[in-house]
Amino acid sequence: MSDSPTARPVSRRGVLTGGALAAGGALAGATAVAVADPPRVRPASTVPVAEVGTAVEPFHGPRQAGVATEPQAHAAFVAFTLRPGTDRAALGRMLRLLSDDAARLTQGRPALADTEPELGLLPARLTVTFGFGPGFYTAAGLDARRPPSVVDLPAFGIDRLQRRWSGGDLLLQICADDPLTVAHTQRVLVKDSRPFATVAWVQQGFRRAAGAEPGRTQRNLFGQIDGTANPRPGAALDAAVWAPDGPVWLRDGTTLVVRRISMNLETWDLLGRTDRELAVGRRLDTGAPLTGEDEHDEPDFAATGPDGLAVMPDFSHVTRSHVSDDRLKILRRPYNYDGAPTPDGHADSGLIFASYQADITRQFLPIQQRLAERDLLNEWTTPIGSAVFAIPPGCAEGGWIGQQLLD
Ligand code: HEM
Repeated sequence: MSDSPTARPVSRRGVLTGGALAAGGALAGATAVAVADPPRVRPASTVPVAEVGTAVEPFHGPRQAGVATEPQAHAAFVAFTLRPGTDRAALGRMLRLLSDDAARLTQGRPALADTEPELGLLPARLTVTFGFGPGFYTAAGLDARRPPSVVDLPAFGIDRLQRRWSGGDLLLQICADDPLTVAHTQRVLVKDSRPFATVAWVQQGFRRAAGAEPGRTQRNLFGQIDGTANPRPGAALDAAVWAPDGPVWLRDGTTLVVRRISMNLETWDLLGRTDRELAVGRRLDTGAPLTGEDEHDEPDFAATGPDGLAVMPDFSHVTRSHVSDDRLKILRRPYNYDGAPTPDGHADSGLIFASYQADITRQFLPIQQRLAERDLLNEWTTPIGSAVFAIPPGCAEGGWIGQQLLD
């Protein structure tokens, strides 16, 4: 598959969607737009604010982008339900098409048949990450190849799950430092999925704007520094995230758990600062553990205060969720959400909690079970959505996401 705008196989879309008109539109749209030189890939923290729009993340490679990638400011998690009749062959056609769209848009080139091609020119570190939910394998007739841990999570006592935020056969995680780029990419990908799938849910989230606090860990809407104990890029992250075992087709892949967790800002606001810090086990200003000085100091779970009580409370969020073995850690890449308040001013806020791990059963589940049993934060948080996906490996130029599974 060529990435060159002039060498694109125009007839393919017509065949896939039955839209000869759309194919004509592709040429008209693409040729009407001046495509800039391919932008250079740079670490996000070194991108000057004035160049945020043109910064790129690679699309092609052994692993999909959007996992280890430094989180962009905006995200849309788009989950689909496959239409009846979307079988293995149709999935192949859909993923070829969506991979092609993603390969172009992430590099600052309009998609084929892009009806707003100017909106495809500023990638702002756009990544599109594909995930396959439990129903994907059934549709493909490949149940035997479903990674065993990619199955609906067990019900937890804290859950108040809503259908409208749960499940999904296919996920597209779209992230960029510019919200217009995310919106345009979402539109293109949803449009091209229509013959094959319906939209199950969309969750849009945000972090600090690019350049607002370079190199700093993000804060969530409780005001907490959130992400400190994540495995660091390199050996620790690799051990936690990229599947070394499991199905051969998932090598260089991983799994994703998406939980929509509502945060009750009203009752949180009633707490004093000390109680807020005890609930998590870290300070609000610096993010340091209650036993330390700096954000990245290791918490000392054995330390006791003058009253003989543990300085890190037994039921603080950090005490309950902490693991020290890299192979048991998870990579959290959450986004904040903030819906319209109710007419009488009550917030609809929370976290789109997204966690990557090589194996959900081995890594995510024990942590979630401990938190569900007893975590002081549960007083102010409620999971209202839940979904699981395998994240297949990436693809080389000319290839497509999912090829290792479906071909
Ligand atoms: C709205 C819900 C949640 C909030 C507000 C929240 C907030 C936080 C905060 C502030 C920290 C401390 C700083 C850090 O290391 O990032 C933390 C740590 C952590 N959280 Fe959460 N969290 C939430 C849900 C979850 C869930 C659902 C899980 C997994 C099932 C989880 C797993 C962890 C882990 C593994 C750590 C690191 C613990 C360590 O080793 O120090 N969190 N979280």
